[in-house]
Order: sequence, then C-alpha cells, then structure tokens
Amino acid sequence: MNNLGHRFGGNWTEQKLECVGKYLHAYTTIMNKQHFQYAYIDAFAGTGYRDMENDEDTEELMFPDLVAPEVVSFHDGSARNALEVEPPFMKYVFIEKNTNRYAELEELKKEFLLKAEFSEDMIECRREDANEYLKNLCGKNWKNHRALVFLDPYGMQVDWKTIESIAGTQAIDLWILFPLGTVNRLLKRNGEIRSSLRERLDLFFGEPDWYEVFYQLAEQISLFDEEQWQKTGDIFTTIEQYFIERLQGIFNGVAANPLLLRNSKNVPLYLLCFAAGNPKGAPIAVKIAQEILEGMQNPSQLTLLG
Ligand SMILES: C[S@@+](CC[C@H](N)C(=O)[O-])C[C@H]1O[C@@H](n2cnc3c(N)ncnc32)[C@H](O)[C@@H]1O
Repeated sequence: MNNLGHRFGGNWTEQKLECVGKYLHAYTTIMNKQHFQYAYIDAFAGTGYRDMENDEDTEELMFPDLVAPEVVSFHDGSARNALEVEPPFMKYVFIEKNTNRYAELEELKKEFLLKAEFSEDMIECRREDANEYLKNLCGKNWKNHRALVFLDPYGMQVDWKTIESIAGTQAIDLWILFPLGTVNRLLKRNGEIRSSLRERLDLFFGEPDWYEVFYQLAEQISLFDEEQWQKTGDIFTTIEQYFIERLQGIFNGVAANPLLLRNSKNVPLYLLCFAAGNPKGAPIAVKIAQEILEGMQNPSQLTLLG
C-alpha cells in the first residue's frame, strides 16, 4: 500500500461496507450452485482502501479532490472486500474515473493475481465514467449472466438513466448509496432553485416531479401575494419514500428498509438501498437484503444471520 490511500467516511462507512459485504457472501453462496456467469461490478471503486481519519465534513464528500492527501490508518475498501468474499465471484469489474485511484486498483489486482484462485481475466479495472460504462454494459445480452452492482458515489454522480439500464437487464442486484444529505442541502427552504441545479436534479431523479413532492404551496396571506413554496415538513422521510418509490417503479423488488447512515453529529448523510432486477430471484434477494438491513439497524438481530 502506498500513500495514495483514499480519504473518506467515518463509522457510517464501516456500516455501509459491512452491510454490502454480508450480502456479497450470501449472493456468491447462492450463485455458486447455479449455472450463470456472475460478476461483481464496483462502479465507484475508489482505491481498494479507505482511511479512518475523517471529520465527515459534507463539503469534503461533495468535493473530495480538494482534500489534502494525508496519510492515516487504512482499512479495506469495497473493492478489496469483494475480492476477499468467499466463495469468490467469477469476475470482478472495478470502475474508477480518477487516474491515481485507478492506478491503486491495478496494484490491488496485481496483489490478488498472486493468489491461486485468481486469473488475469477475472479482474478488470477500468478508468472511465461509471454511468457510460454501465449503460453500455446493461445493453448487452444478460440471458446467461448475473451481476451484483455496487454504486457508491460521494454525491449525485449516478444518473437515473443508469439505474434504469441496470433495472432493464432484469439480471442485476443493486446496492446504491443515495446521497440524502446532499439532496436535502440543495433543496432551498423557499423553493428557489436555480435552473442548472433543477436540471441536475431532474437527471438525478429521472423526472421533474420531485419538486411537487418536496415542496408545497405556503398559505397565501392575501389574494394579491405571490405564490410561495416551502419545503415539506419531514423532508428526510419524504425524500426517502420518493426515492424508494422511484426504484419500485423499475425493479422487481426493493428492500423496504434502507439503512440510514448518519455522521457523528447524528445528521443524516446517506441511505443505503437495495433493489433486485430478476423477476424470479427478486423475492429471495430482497428477503436476504432486508434481513441484513434489519440486523444493521438492530445489531442484536445479526446473530440470526450467522
Ligand atoms: C465514495 S468513493 C468510493 C469508495 C469505495 N466504494 C470504497 O468503499 O472503497 C467514490 C469514488 O468514485 C469515483 N468517481 C466519482 N465519479 C465517478 C464516475 N462518474 N465514474 C467513475 N468513478 C467515479 C471517485 O473518484 C471516488 O474514488
């Protein structure tokens, strides 16, 4: 490991990776007994490492490249976690746009190629845009293929069209980190959102209807007042319900209990959501994901899952 380790996340990062990690194990255990070619696709892969010094500053999460690369203690990131899953996936695809982080992924690949169970064609690192890569990949024939996709962006980097393409394969299980805190911060109290930001939110949610969901007309004092919009009361719950309903509209199954991840000041940052695309597999996939999510919300339940 060199000093290019990747700086983000606090305790909530641990929860996120633990949750996805448990599902990966359940997934490969089941897929191992089936006839499909199955892959793990980490579309915002980072470096394979994460470090633990983090003040959870939300600006840092939105503009990670402004953060000084200090070296602190390192822990496994999502890519390394996936490579260590037993039984392993048949194929791993790690996508990372940042040149330095991509180089770290290539090092991670080299490290795992020293192990007997990995071969060159099993691990593919790609330095490109995750949205473009996924939309192209999802357009292929998935009849004999299955995949687990993990979308773990800092902010609103995933376009709704990408999520639609994933759902359209009917062959992919998806874990996605939804940037609840970022979306909430962008929604100004008085509803005045500049047009470029509205366009970004339209792309992100795949429709402009979010505005009427997140805002309501304030009572007018007199007939001659201008229309005033105000943010709905329980905005975090409203955003959560809206996003889960959007997923339910395109996937065959969606976990009803996404994991709310908060920073050390108890401020909601992200929602970890699960959706399953395959009509036959979705009920069992959602059941497993919901049990894992439930266990993360109430840690005493984790023992039930082994
Ligand atoms: C939160 S980090 C990923 C952390 C990683 N999943 C882990 O747990 O170790 C998000 C990563 O996505 C990368 N990224 C941002 N936008 C991207 C895009 N459009 N395509 C591919 N990678 C992107 C960033 O460079 C960053 O490394």
